[in-house]
Amino acid sequence: MLKDRSILLGITGSVAAYKSLELIKGFVKDGASVKVIMTEAAKRFITPMSVEIASGGNVYCDMFESPLSHVSLPADADLFVIAPATANIISKYANGIADNLLSTSLLAFNGRVIIAPAMNWRMYENAVFQKNLHYLLSLGVKTVGPERGSLACGEEGMGRMADVEKIIEAVRTSLSKQDLAGEQVLVTAGPTREYIDPVRYISNRSSGKMGYAIAKIAKRRGADVTLISGPTAIKPPDGVEVINVETADEMHASVMDNVPMSSIFIMSAAVADFVPAETKNSKIEKKEKFSLNLVKTSDILEEAGRFKNKPFIAGFSAETGNRLDRARKKLVNKNIDMIVFNDVSKAGSGFDADTNEVVIIHRDKEGEIHEQPLQLMSKEDVASALFDMIVSLKNEGLSE
Ligand SMILES: Cc1cc2nc3c(=O)[nH]c(=O)nc-3n(C[C@H](O)[C@H](O)[C@H](O)COP(=O)(O)O)c2cc1C
Repeated sequence: MLKDRSILLGITGSVAAYKSLELIKGFVKDGASVKVIMTEAAKRFITPMSVEIASGGNVYCDMFESPLSHVSLPADADLFVIAPATANIISKYANGIADNLLSTSLLAFNGRVIIAPAMNWRMYENAVFQKNLHYLLSLGVKTVGPERGSLACGEEGMGRMADVEKIIEAVRTSLSKQDLAGEQVLVTAGPTREYIDPVRYISNRSSGKMGYAIAKIAKRRGADVTLISGPTAIKPPDGVEVINVETADEMHASVMDNVPMSSIFIMSAAVADFVPAETKNSKIEKKEKFSLNLVKTSDILEEAGRFKNKPFIAGFSAETGNRLDRARKKLVNKNIDMIVFNDVSKAGSGFDADTNEVVIIHRDKEGEIHEQPLQLMSKEDVASALFDMIVSLKNEGLSE
């Protein structure tokens, strides 16, 4: 995601400075090249040597060591990140002070800046500091965090630096194309649970990973995202509205409520096809034999496909075996725009995997059906490929 991107990271004198090492490793893992400026105070918390090792040797501290570094470092950067950002650097930046390599480089930079404030809650709530912070926000500087929680000083309050993963995601968003800006994306994810009695249910092996990856990528590319989720163990992406449901009935009701407000609807949840004909109010006693009567659930995709002003609709067709024929049939019968076929019996494409190998089946504006097989890739990359296709199909439709 951050391949060939150049990030300039400023580390300042906060106890959270040690987390910058993880941050640098995350940027590097994502493919970015990272250069780091440390303040004198930052060097009291972590050593330049540790930063040098993490970043591959790109650490700068002294403005006068290499006379034009305050101009050349920002000139080469796609994005300037300050993490952790002390009250001091934020206030200096807001007031145009240039008294060391970091503050001077900030003034010499005219691209996007992300700051991750970290400080004691009293410093954070201080009126002078807040005025400075708000001034930076009004200029378009982005902040990640801080968060409320236990602080290094032993107090509780607002001031903890945001999690490293959150800062990395903010960077990815900032450097990502925003081609879904203005789109209202509705995504469903995970399994449903169909109760037999208060303690037993029927479910399926869906982990929700594919749907959560779709929601994350849609958000990253600028969409407003609503995620209707069955029970999963995954942390939802930041900035996404999450509606938690449990049963196929609840999923159905929630989708029907939200489809009219959406411009793209992606149904990746594994909704039960059959549910118990009745749910007992008390626990069924153990016996020699027990048979369960199941009834068919309503077809959410098909109903969504019947909406008058329907959004762009994509569904998933998880099959065991190369049953592309079944997926194609679903695309036509349900009157939807795209179906994503995957063979869950294939290695790397099954439930709970972080990867998926799919075939995207879609119609063009003449209604003709096309298939695009993708290689095995991460679920986030599958989500990106889906949106590339959806954006190009929507643009084709607009230019008709
Ligand atoms: C142990 C310790 C922890 C500190 N933690 C923070 C902090 O989390 N946030 C902050 O704004 N300042 C903190 N400070 C104060 C800054 O280090 C101080 O304001 C310094 O001048 C910041 O310089 P810089 O912004 O150039 O790095 C801390 C100071 C000490 C001694």
